[in-house]
Amino acid sequence: MSQNILVTYASRSGATQGVAEAIGKTLAESGANVDVKPMSAVTDLSPYSAVVAGSAIQASAWLPEALDFISTNQHAISQKPFATFLVCMTLAMKNGEKYRPFVTDFINPVRSMVKPVSEAQFAGTLDLKKIPSLGDRIKFGISILLGVWKQGDHRDWNEINSWAVSLNSKLN
Ligand SMILES: Cc1cc2nc3c(=O)[nH]c(=O)nc-3n(C[C@H](O)[C@H](O)[C@H](O)COP(=O)(O)O)c2cc1C
Repeated sequence: MSQNILVTYASRSGATQGVAEAIGKTLAESGANVDVKPMSAVTDLSPYSAVVAGSAIQASAWLPEALDFISTNQHAISQKPFATFLVCMTLAMKNGEKYRPFVTDFINPVRSMVKPVSEAQFAGTLDLKKIPSLGDRIKFGISILLGVWKQGDHRDWNEINSWAVSLNSKLN
């Protein structure tokens, strides 16, 4: 029988949504029934045999609504194979790979609630026009001028798809 997999996400400017959709597409191509939904639209996990959940990172943490989702659904998630990912800009920095252990720790609050069978960290996007707060736009603008961050889409679709393929054997 084919699996019913939920790929759910919390995203502020769309980068994490795009990653979730790519993961969902790859899982569906491998034969699973897949729903890709924002966490705010998920009310019931009972139809699903496995859950993949990811969030954008702000202030070195999953978005608050994403942590709330895990907390609210902790019991249901702990009954199923669960995989998790995050999308951030730290990995898009020059020599970003050296920060991977630091970025991996952003998942600690999730790990304290549920045990993922697999975890991934992906570089995201930065578009000043999509940042709603003027203060944040100024902060990021200065960081761009200083060369800390580079605007643009830094998502590595090969890396994202490889991780999604690796989930096939882990979400059973
Ligand atoms: C207000 C704000 C705070 C952020 N804080 C961090 C951070 O602490 N560490 C990091 O690596 N990226 C940080 N980012 C970058 C986002 O994680 C990145 O832009 C991501 O692609 C956003 O995903 P989304 O489009 O799904 O919201 C921040 C972005 C914003 C707008």
